[in-house]
Amino acid sequence: MKYLDILKQMRSKRLMNPTNISKQDLEDVVEHLVYMQNARNLQQLRYVIIDHADEAIFKMTNLVSDHKIPLENAPSAYLIIGTLHDVNPNKLLGMDIGIASQIIKEACFEKGYDTITINNVALKELADYVNKPGFYPQNIIAIGVSTMEIKTIVNNKQTGTTKDEHNNHVVYKLDKDTLLMK
Ligand SMILES: Cc1cc2nc3c(=O)[nH]c(=O)nc-3n(C[C@H](O)[C@H](O)[C@H](O)COP(=O)(O)O)c2cc1C
Repeated sequence: MKYLDILKQMRSKRLMNPTNISKQDLEDVVEHLVYMQNARNLQQLRYVIIDHADEAIFKMTNLVSDHKIPLENAPSAYLIIGTLHDVNPNKLLGMDIGIASQIIKEACFEKGYDTITINNVALKELADYVNKPGFYPQNIIAIGVSTMEIKTIVNNKQTGTTKDEHNNHVVYKLDKDTLLMK
C-alpha cells in the first residue's frame, strides 16, 4: 500500500472490539523503535508493553473528554512511552515522543491493529501502577481492532471531529493548499 493510502486509512478509532494481541507482536513493534531518528541520537525513550485489556490503565486513559469509551469497547493492549528521568519533556524530547508514537501507530497498522495516541492520561498514577523504577510514562498508545467507520472530510477551514446527521464519526482534515503557506 502507498504511504499516502496508509495515512488516509490510519484513523484514531476509539471504539474497539475485544481481541488478543500477542506480546510477540508488541515486541516486534518495539523493534521498529531501535532505528528511529531522535534528537542528538541520545535515545532517551523507553517502552513498556501491556499485552492485555488492562482495566486499571483503561480507566486512567479514559478521562472525561469528548471521547468517553464504554468498557466493552476498551483497547486490547497498550504501549507506554516513557523517559528515564521524571521530566516535563522539553521541545526535543517532545519531538522524540511524537516520532515514537507515529512509528508505533504505523507498525501496528501494518499488523492490522488500530491505535490511538493518548496524551490525556493520569501519568503519575500510571507510573505508580506500572511500577518500573526509573521509568516515567510520558504518553501511551492504545492498541486494538476496530470495525468503527470514520468519514474523513478534507476541507479548507474546519478541524476537530464530530458526528454527522446519521451518527457517523467524522474527522476534518485541512487540505494541502491550506497547509502550504504561500
Ligand atoms: C499528541 C497527541 C495527543 C493525543 N491525545 C489524545 C487523547 O488524550 N485522547 C484521545 O482520544 N485522542 C488523542 N489523540 C488523538 C487525536 O485526537 C487524533 O489524532 C485527532 O483527533 C485526529 O484524528 P485521526 O487520528 O483520526 O486523524 C492524540 C493525538 C496526538 C498526536
